[in-house]
Amino acid sequence: MTYVIALPCVDVKDRACVDECPVDCIYEGNRMLYIQPDECVDCGACEPVCPVEAIFYEDDTPDQWADYYNANVDFFDDLGAPGGAAKMGVIDKDHPLIEALPTQPNPSPDTHVRFRANGPAAPYTAVMSISDTHVRARPSGHPGRADLPGLLSIGGLAKLTRVSPRSLRYYEEQGLLVARRTEAGHRRYESEAVDRVLLVQRLFAAGLSSADIRPVLPGMIDDAHCTEDLVTELREHRDRLQQEVERQLDTIDILDEVIEEHSAHAG
Ligand code: F3S
Ligand code: F3S
Repeated sequence: MTYVIALPCVDVKDRACVDECPVDCIYEGNRMLYIQPDECVDCGACEPVCPVEAIFYEDDTPDQWADYYNANVDFFDDLGAPGGAAKMGVIDKDHPLIEALPTQPNPSPDTHVRFRANGPAAPYTAVMSISDTHVRARPSGHPGRADLPGLLSIGGLAKLTRVSPRSLRYYEEQGLLVARRTEAGHRRYESEAVDRVLLVQRLFAAGLSSADIRPVLPGMIDDAHCTEDLVTELREHRDRLQQEVERQLDTIDILDEVIEEHSAHAG
């Protein structure tokens, strides 16, 4: 899986995404930029900074721009994986899909909002903030990001929690995390998601599975939903872990006996 740049970038080329990319895998063509799919590490940092919402997680690319996945991939047919866009400069070509497009409307300034979540990863705490909000230009006709202002992008949430975007999408699939969607289909999270993700991680580390976590999570997040059943369920999980530990210790005892018997015969 990778990220994809789609139509809104054509003839705009804001390049904010290039500044954010930690692996320098966003390459510049004449009319659009392209993500090298083998070099992209799926960090999600580029998606929220694009002022025209041109960047999508592969599975979230709107249907009308589905061809842009191949446009991004095919652009590298003759280039391979160059290992860094900066040294390449502007590559004198575009994918035929882009070459065939008429000139795209010029964005008018100050018509849309660009924002990013920044700052160091937070410890397990409810305290977090979204800062660095910029007003940037967006061409009319493209869905804007002002529909859910102030919420965290998946890259922002990943940065604050140190949990990869891939894992965050998995949590969502498992019903452990809820994302809202912008008009364009990008995931956005309330600030409470930071604590929720860190709690989910803690519970995974405590040996609970997604199925174990799902029913107890609401009660652990909100005291109003914390019941005696929840505590009983956690105790039962602890008992199962204890039994498993004892079973493993028995296994080690047997293995020790076998080793001892064979040590006597060796050499
Ligand atoms: Fe294009 Fe947006 Fe990047 S306009 S260059 S995808 S920031
Ligand atoms: Fe890929 Fe964008 Fe990160 S191109 S490596 S997801 S900044």
